[in-house]
Amino acid sequence: MTRWLLTGGAGYIGAHVARALLDSGRGVVVLDDLSTGVRSRVPEGAAFVEASVLDTDAVRAALTSYDVSGVIHLAAKKAVGESVEQPLLYYRENVGGMVSLLDAMALADVSNLVYSSSAAVYGDPAWSPISEDTPCAPLSPYGETKLIGEWMVRDQARARGMSWVSLRYFNVAGAGSPDLGDTSANNLIPMVFDALDRGERPQVFGTDYPTPDGSCIRDYIHVVDLASAHVASAQLCEGGDAAAVFNVGRGIGASVWEVMAAVSEVVGRDVDAEAVGRRPGDPPELVAMVDRIRADLGWSASHDLHDMVASAWPARPNPV
Ligand SMILES: NC(=O)c1ccc[n+]([C@@H]2O[C@H](COP(=O)([O-])OP(=O)(O)OC[C@H]3O[C@@H](n4cnc5c(N)ncnc54)[C@H](O)[C@@H]3O)[C@@H](O)[C@H]2O)c1
Repeated sequence: MTRWLLTGGAGYIGAHVARALLDSGRGVVVLDDLSTGVRSRVPEGAAFVEASVLDTDAVRAALTSYDVSGVIHLAAKKAVGESVEQPLLYYRENVGGMVSLLDAMALADVSNLVYSSSAAVYGDPAWSPISEDTPCAPLSPYGETKLIGEWMVRDQARARGMSWVSLRYFNVAGAGSPDLGDTSANNLIPMVFDALDRGERPQVFGTDYPTPDGSCIRDYIHVVDLASAHVASAQLCEGGDAAAVFNVGRGIGASVWEVMAAVSEVVGRDVDAEAVGRRPGDPPELVAMVDRIRADLGWSASHDLHDMVASAWPARPNPV
């Protein structure tokens, strides 16, 4: 049995990836410092090591003692606003974390790596849908650290021969079960639920964008679909000589007003969203071109926006 180490495997996305890998017949070791992760999210059947990726010795020990054949590197800080206020924290955790991980992998002679990158690497591209060849120009320290991580993987692979995939996630939403919801209040759907639970009107930031209904358009991807893209990526790495960057999205945009309508449908009443001013730094439209992942990985999403909202509603952290 091949065994994969998941850094950040106790987090929102990692918990889903861990389950999908176990279901694929692979072994799983989760390494997480529990800074935002939750121990109870690590599935039965997975080993757990409480450590930071910054602790190279601990990562190396986990790789060798569990005879790991590949790593899925999800551990990171991910709040864009916080990264603007505390850039060094993001460079230390995300860039320093990658240095430490690649060191540990080299020492333990592990050469398969799947990396959690982000659509944030693109910044505000001139056109949409966005192909993987679009020039990257991140708008925040968070996006910069994700892009630097990609470069580090590519350069280390050139230097010592790794088999790797970087996955640029678009807007991740939904839950595989009610206990695995997104606990961070930075993403649109959890923010809308949070407002509803507090008896407030959810807000639509900016209604004068150059989009059909004036609100921002994003490409929402169900976390369960995202997890299956990791299994396909792990398989590609195991075949040897993978060197790939893939967008992970549906290739379909949804506007903020459309998300509000989907939420209204799920909760069974009009959420009565309120139009307010734009937030700084929100690009009008970010939709993935998904031809490459479909062709090279044989992967495509199977869940739609309604599935995401309907699965996220019972999984919200503080239901009223
Ligand atoms: N959620 C999204 O919409 C989204 C979009 C694009 C990319 N990503 C990327 O996906 C990855 C996972 O995100 P998530 O939404 O599951 O976030 P999350 O905060 O739920 O999960 C991150 C996990 O990493 C752990 N962690 C953080 N720093 C660590 C360290 N130094 N050592 C060990 N563990 C550490 C945390 O405890 C947590 O369990 C991140 O790399 C993030 O940048 C997320």
